[in-house]
Amino acid sequence: MKVTVVGAGAVGASCAEYIAIKDFADEIVLIDIKEGFAEGKAMDLMQTASLNGFDSTITGTTNDYSKTANSDVAVITSGIPRKPGMTREELIDINAGIVKTVAENLIKYSPNVILIVVSNPMDTMAYLAHKATGLPKNRIIGMGGALDSARFKFRLAEALGCPQSDVDGIVIGGHSDTGMVPLIEKAVRNSVPVSEFLSEEKMAEVVEATKVGGATLTKLLGTSAWYAPGAAVSELVKAIALDSKKLFPCSALLEGEYGLTDISLGVPCILGKNGIESIVEIALSDAEKEKLVASAAGVREVNNLLTV
Ligand code: LAC
Repeated sequence: MKVTVVGAGAVGASCAEYIAIKDFADEIVLIDIKEGFAEGKAMDLMQTASLNGFDSTITGTTNDYSKTANSDVAVITSGIPRKPGMTREELIDINAGIVKTVAENLIKYSPNVILIVVSNPMDTMAYLAHKATGLPKNRIIGMGGALDSARFKFRLAEALGCPQSDVDGIVIGGHSDTGMVPLIEKAVRNSVPVSEFLSEEKMAEVVEATKVGGATLTKLLGTSAWYAPGAAVSELVKAIALDSKKLFPCSALLEGEYGLTDISLGVPCILGKNGIESIVEIALSDAEKEKLVASAAGVREVNNLLTV
């Protein structure tokens, strides 16, 4: 498998690193507009191969898309990240132009590529990628839910005082501070509902901490996070590479699923060699449904700001 990662900044480099370490890809290409930057990151990462025990090759290029030709998967991380106090939505003007150009360049050299969109505001950028490329809906995946669900599990384990491997839960809806819908009613500790262990108040705290997971890190780091975003991307790429049919919440183009159309929004998806193999329509409680509808309305407001 050949994977291109567009943007060799912290998130892109972290994606490349985790993909390499998991050793399922033959070839990883890092591409960036900053002269020599992707080449440098790629060389630095390649010098970890004997230490970390992987055989994937990583190469870098300054904006030469011909080097990305015939990629099976391309991850779009390019654009500006948010600064403390900024919302993901405030990045739209700059990032929309970048994401559109990048998607078009990728398709030119890799007509069969599956795109994973990471740039923010992510749901709107995934929607834009659909509009700009007209790719079938299975081949554009917005990465947000896998990351938000990992942050949800972190907060659940913290509240429960247990290892993260003991908990499970997913976050659907938009990848934004107000749009995320952590499905707390369905979250479990080794198949036991977390409500058996946590008070209503504690569960509400877990939900709130999850929703502002990215903002909390942006405040601490001065820019947005990269380890968990990179790790989340690597799991999505791995599911495609291994045709694993694992379930991840991803931002997918909806055409009637969950009663929504013409929007890219986080919903449970089965991932395999075709990208999104299917969207799973799980039964939601009335409260969950209400939150998902409100989340969709918020994402639509941002989509309406698109001018490209
Ligand atoms: C975050 C960015 C990647 O949530 O959206 O950290």
